[in-house]
Amino acid sequence: MNSNSRSKYMLDETETYIRTEFENEGSGHDWWHIHRVRNLACHISKSEGGDLFLVEMSALLHDLDDWKISDDNDLQKARKWLNTLHIEPDQAEKILQIISEVSYKGAGVSTPTSSVEAAIVQDADRLDAIGAIGIARTFAYGGNKGRLLYDPGIPPEMHSDFDAYQKTSAPTINHFYEKLLLLKSRMNTPTAIRIAEDRHEFMENYLQRFFSEWDGKI
Ligand code: ADP
Ligand code: NI
Repeated sequence: MNSNSRSKYMLDETETYIRTEFENEGSGHDWWHIHRVRNLACHISKSEGGDLFLVEMSALLHDLDDWKISDDNDLQKARKWLNTLHIEPDQAEKILQIISEVSYKGAGVSTPTSSVEAAIVQDADRLDAIGAIGIARTFAYGGNKGRLLYDPGIPPEMHSDFDAYQKTSAPTINHFYEKLLLLKSRMNTPTAIRIAEDRHEFMENYLQRFFSEWDGKI
């Protein structure tokens, strides 16, 4: 097998594996989230560069060991899967490093990236957290965890450590202020910044409308 068809084989195998793993995920992290992140990451990579194989593979595996879905925070499942594929050890380490840099950890916690591929996958994941899709995913997550839509008596918190961010059980609207509206200014690449601006504006309009309806004004 030449290197192109070997890469395609590994991506196809990984897609099949991830589709099964995420089939019944009900918190907005289902297979279609992974699929959208992969497409967004490929789109960003076209103008921003990076190794496309590493970008796609990391996008496919990025939520496999996520703290919101799995109890394990040592990337065990991703590591095991890469071993199954017999991928070269240095490629596997690069992919695991990218995955470890993707997640948001709270308003006051910085999440730097150490490669162009990590910057791209982090941007793609964050783009899928905002805009119309982002709103839908966020309420799906809140519903999955049994949270209130909104409670005027519970203000948003700017978490300065990951632990506090992970432990919150605040109403879903708070998540817009604790994460979603902050993402536009945390994008890494010019391509993602452009997409984020439009999606951000849509969320601002949505929230304005939400609060007007909440107050019975319209
Ligand atoms: P990250 O790894 O950066 O957290 P994910 O792909 O795992 O990104 O998805 C995060 C998404 O999960 C959020 O954008 C949101 O839709 C949902 N989510 C996470 N925490 C909350 C929360 N406290 N309230 C509502 N939605 C949440
Ligand atoms: Ni994700």
